[in-house]
Amino acid sequence: MQQPVYENIEATFSPQNLKDEIVKGLENSQACISPKFLYDKLGSHLFTAITYLPEYYPTVTEREIFLKFKEEIALSMGSNHCLIDLGAGNCQKAESIFDAIKPSTYVAVDFSIEYLQEVLPKLQGKYPEIKMMGVGMDFSNHLSLPTSIPNIQRNFFYPGSSIGNFSQTQAGHLLDQIKSSSDQGGLLLGVDLMKEDAVLLNAYDDPLKLTAAFNLNILRVVNTLINSNFNVKDFRHTITINHPMQRVELYLEALRDVTVSWANGTRSFKAGELIHTENSHKYSVTSIQALLKASGFSRFKTWTDSKDYFALIYAQ
Ligand code: AVI
Repeated sequence: MQQPVYENIEATFSPQNLKDEIVKGLENSQACISPKFLYDKLGSHLFTAITYLPEYYPTVTEREIFLKFKEEIALSMGSNHCLIDLGAGNCQKAESIFDAIKPSTYVAVDFSIEYLQEVLPKLQGKYPEIKMMGVGMDFSNHLSLPTSIPNIQRNFFYPGSSIGNFSQTQAGHLLDQIKSSSDQGGLLLGVDLMKEDAVLLNAYDDPLKLTAAFNLNILRVVNTLINSNFNVKDFRHTITINHPMQRVELYLEALRDVTVSWANGTRSFKAGELIHTENSHKYSVTSIQALLKASGFSRFKTWTDSKDYFALIYAQ
């Protein structure tokens, strides 16, 4: 049986780069930590748990759209193609569409190659006919695909509305790179649509406090990476809906005056001061298509759910 092959793209990925990025964010007047640090092993499991919350509508709604329009989506994407899954995680979403879209090659790209090394062998066992590859890469900075990826039609897969966690400029930069690497292929993109505040508040500040745990866990990740002494008990999860920017913003708020130290620095937080950890942008079908057009995509197929909460777009 064929085995998955792996490649780690080190360019922007070195531990020192990650440490420097964290320290720079903590030293900002508005302290911030990049959302990519939410996803260590525990964070990835907490996020998976969030996707099971009834309040967290994106996952269930996206699945509903997939199920309803599977054949149409498969037809748009063509056959004998290479599916490149950006932020593959546990690869479950891609697996759920394998039967319909039948890729000949599957490339799982994720920040954590260790996670892919756990998941891909099992997936390969279930789908021996698909050639599989795992790529460890921080594509939030730069998308550089290994040259060994076959030069057949490349279909990028970016579900879950993770595009919403980028600023418009970063999203545009990523879309530019996807466009230039997908020649005759395309991009199947999941996008969360703007909706009423109550739905967003429940989804991003859920009553079981899973999102709070997910957000607070970033402080432990930071402690591990830069050897700092954040105490999770000194902070609480809080969110804001920023209407002009069309996004939900996640923060950690200091509950008391605290000073945090690491090897060559310290940062003091006054009670009530915020650390920004994530933005989750919400689009309209028009605004996401405009962003895609700016990156050179010109043909779109769009599928939405009955409440217009979420959209799946195949862009070429
Ligand atoms: C991964 N990403 C699309 C999630 C979102 O909805 O923005 C991350 C998340 N943050 C809090 N809950 C979920």
